[in-house]
Amino acid sequence: TATLTNRVRRMDPINLWIPENIQRATGKTGMPHAIQRVLPGLHKGRTAVITGGSLGIGLQLGRYLAIAGARVLLSARSAPKLEEARAEIVDELRGVGYPNPDERVHIMPDIDVGDEAALERLYDHSMELFGHVDFLINNAGISGAEEMVVDMTLEAWNRTMFANLISNYSLIRKYAPKMKANGYGIVLNVSSYFGGEKYVAVAYPNRADYAVSKAGQRVLAEILSRHLGPEIRINALAPGPVDGARLRGLGGAPGLFERRGRLVLENKRLNSVHKAFLAALGEGIGAESLTALAKNALADLRRIAGRSKALGKLVAQIEDGREGGHSREYLLNRDLAEKLMNRLVTGGLITPESSEEFLDGFVDAPSPFFDEKSVKKAAEGIEAGILNRLHLHKMPTDEQIGLSTVFHLADDIASGETFHPSGGLKFDRSVTEGELLHRPDREALAKLRGKRVVLIGDAMREELSSIAKGFIDHDIAALTVLTRSSEAQEEIQHSIEAASGINVEVRVIGDAIEDALDDLLQNDGGFDVVVSAPFARLPYNALAAEHEGSWERVLSHEDFARLIDEQLTHHFRVARRAALVPNCQIVLLTPDTSFVSSREEFALALFVKNSLHAFTVTLGVETERLPTYPAVNQVQLTRRARAEEPANENELEEEMERLVYAVLSCSVPAPSPGESRYLARIFRGNAVTV
Ligand code: COA
Repeated sequence: TATLTNRVRRMDPINLWIPENIQRATGKTGMPHAIQRVLPGLHKGRTAVITGGSLGIGLQLGRYLAIAGARVLLSARSAPKLEEARAEIVDELRGVGYPNPDERVHIMPDIDVGDEAALERLYDHSMELFGHVDFLINNAGISGAEEMVVDMTLEAWNRTMFANLISNYSLIRKYAPKMKANGYGIVLNVSSYFGGEKYVAVAYPNRADYAVSKAGQRVLAEILSRHLGPEIRINALAPGPVDGARLRGLGGAPGLFERRGRLVLENKRLNSVHKAFLAALGEGIGAESLTALAKNALADLRRIAGRSKALGKLVAQIEDGREGGHSREYLLNRDLAEKLMNRLVTGGLITPESSEEFLDGFVDAPSPFFDEKSVKKAAEGIEAGILNRLHLHKMPTDEQIGLSTVFHLADDIASGETFHPSGGLKFDRSVTEGELLHRPDREALAKLRGKRVVLIGDAMREELSSIAKGFIDHDIAALTVLTRSSEAQEEIQHSIEAASGINVEVRVIGDAIEDALDDLLQNDGGFDVVVSAPFARLPYNALAAEHEGSWERVLSHEDFARLIDEQLTHHFRVARRAALVPNCQIVLLTPDTSFVSSREEFALALFVKNSLHAFTVTLGVETERLPTYPAVNQVQLTRRARAEEPANENELEEEMERLVYAVLSCSVPAPSPGESRYLARIFRGNAVTV
C-alpha cells in the first residue's frame, strides 16, 4: 500500500472521447448508438494486415478495425486509391478522438496477391512496422476467367488458384510462426457464398476456377483451425453479393451482372452453334461444308441448312431470337469462333487443319455482336435471380459486411467456421457428399459393354489396378492406362491380365496429359469413360509447429502450390478436355487415406475432396448445358472421420471393392437432359464416398 500511495506517476492527458453525434463530429452518417458505445477500443492494441484494402470489403474492414483501436496496414495494387482511403480513415479517427491518428493507418501499394515476391515484401514491411501482427485479413482476390470449364485456359485457372488461394496459404504460413509464439493471432479468409458450406458444395456455373478457389479458402480455415489453434483462430467470411464497387464495376468497367449477362448470351449462342455442328457432322455433313460457314453470314447457313435438320433448326433459332445487335445476321464473333473450333478439335470431331482453315477464312461480325440493351436485360435477369436467392432479399453494403465482421472478429472462441453476415443463399442446386450404399445392379453395369475406357493416374497404383480389373470384368472394348512414370506402368501392367477380346495398353505419358488424350482421340478411335486419379501422393508435412524455430517441416507455400496442382488442377486438365468428347463419363478420384494416416494427411485429404467438389458440382451443371452431354462425378476414399476408415486387411479389401463399384457406377452413361432434366441432374456433380 505504501508503495502504491507514495509512487509518483505521470500520465498523459486522456483525450479519447466518443462524440454524442458522429455525423456532426466527422461529417459521416451516424453510427447506431450501441455501436458508438462498444466499437472504439474493441480491438485496442492490436495490429492488422489487410490485402486488397483500398476499396470494398477490405477497405471497410480496415476502417472499422482502426475505429475499434487496431493499427492497420492496408495493402493493394494502386497507390492513389490507398492514399485516398488512408486520408479518410485518418480523418475519421481524429473525429472519434484517437491521438496521433496518422500513426494508426499505414498503406503499402504495389501488392498484387498474384505475385509471391509482393507477399514477401508485405510480410517484411508489416513486421518492421508493427513488430507483431495480430490479424491477417486475406481479402484480395480476382474474379477469375468467367468462362465455362471447357473454354478456360490452364493459365487463367492457375492465375485464379494463385491469387485467390495459394496467396492465402502463403501469407498464413509466413505469419503463423510468430502468431503461435505470441499466443495470439486471427486469420480471416474472405471467401464467398459460392465457396459452399461444410458438407454442401454449391455450383457456380461459368466460374469453376473462382468456385474452387473460394471453396479452398473456406476448407483451409476448417482444416487449419485444428492445427494452428488454440493460439491462432482462423475463419472464413462468406459475404455473398455485396452492393458495392466490385459488383457495379470499377472505373466505368462493366460490373459483375453485366459481364455475366453478356457471357450468358454469348455462351447460349456458342452452345447452340456447337450443338448444331455436332449434329450436322452426325448427319453426314462434312467438315468442309462447315468450313464454308467461315464467312459467318446467316445467308450461307440458310443455303446449306436445306441438307441438314440440325442446321435448319439453328437458322430458325437465330431468326426467332430477340437479342439485338449483329448476332441476327452473323453466326458468331471471332472470340466465339475460336472457342468453337477449339471445342471441336479438342473433342476429336474435326482436325486441327480444318479448324485453322475455318479461322483463316473467318469473317468477323461487326461490333456489337449483342447490343447493349440485350446485355442489360440479361444482366437485370441475373440480378433479380440472385436477389431471389438471398434469404434477406437484399444485398448488404460493403460497410455492413465490414462492421459486422469486425464484431465477429472479437469473438474469442469461433475457429474453423464460415461467417455468413448476410443470411446465406437459397441454393438453386446444391450437392452434398453421399455414401455408396449398395452395389450397382447388373442391368446398369451391363451398359459398360463395348465402352472404351481411359484410366489416368500414378500414385494410387493398387486402386488403379483393381479398377482396371473391374472394367475388364464388365466386357468393355478397350482399356488404356496412362501413367506418369515407367514404374507405375510396370506395376499396373504386371497386375492386370486382359481377357481375350479386350484391347489393353498401359502408356507412360509423363506430364503430357493433353497430348495423350488428343492422341487417343485422333489415332485410337476415342473413348467413352475417363477416370482421373492423381499422379502424386499427398505430402507428409506437418501443418504447424510448437516452437518458432521448428517450422521447416511445415508445409511451405511451394508445397501447397504443388498440392493444388497435383490434386485439383490435374483433374481440371483432364475434365476440361474429356467434357468435349460426346457423352463422355468423367470420374475424378481423390487421394486415399487409411487408419494409419496422420492427422495432417487426413486434413489435407479432406481439403482436396471438399475443394474438388466445388469443381465437380460446377462442371456438373455446365455439362447439362454442353451439347456433348458428358457427366462428371467424384469418388472419394477419405471418410469424414478417421475412425471410420478401414482398420484391418479385411476392411481394406472391402473398401477397395466399394471403390471399384463406385467408379463403375459413375462410368455408366448418365441420362441426358433431353431424356430427363430431373435424372440428368441427379447423375451429375456428386461426390461418392466409399
Ligand atoms: N451456357 C448456356 N446457358 C447458360 C450458361 C452457359 N454457359 N450460363 C448460364 N446459362 C443460362 C442459364 O441456364 C439460365 O438459363 P434460363 O434463363 O433458360 O434458365 C440463364 O443463362 C441465366 O443464367 P444464370 O442466372 O447466371 O443461372 P446459372 O444457373 O448459370 O447461375 C447463379 C446461377 C446464381 C450462379 C448466377 O445467377 C449468378 O452468377 N448470379 C450472380 C452471383 C453473384 O452475385 N456473385 C457475387 C458473389 S461472389
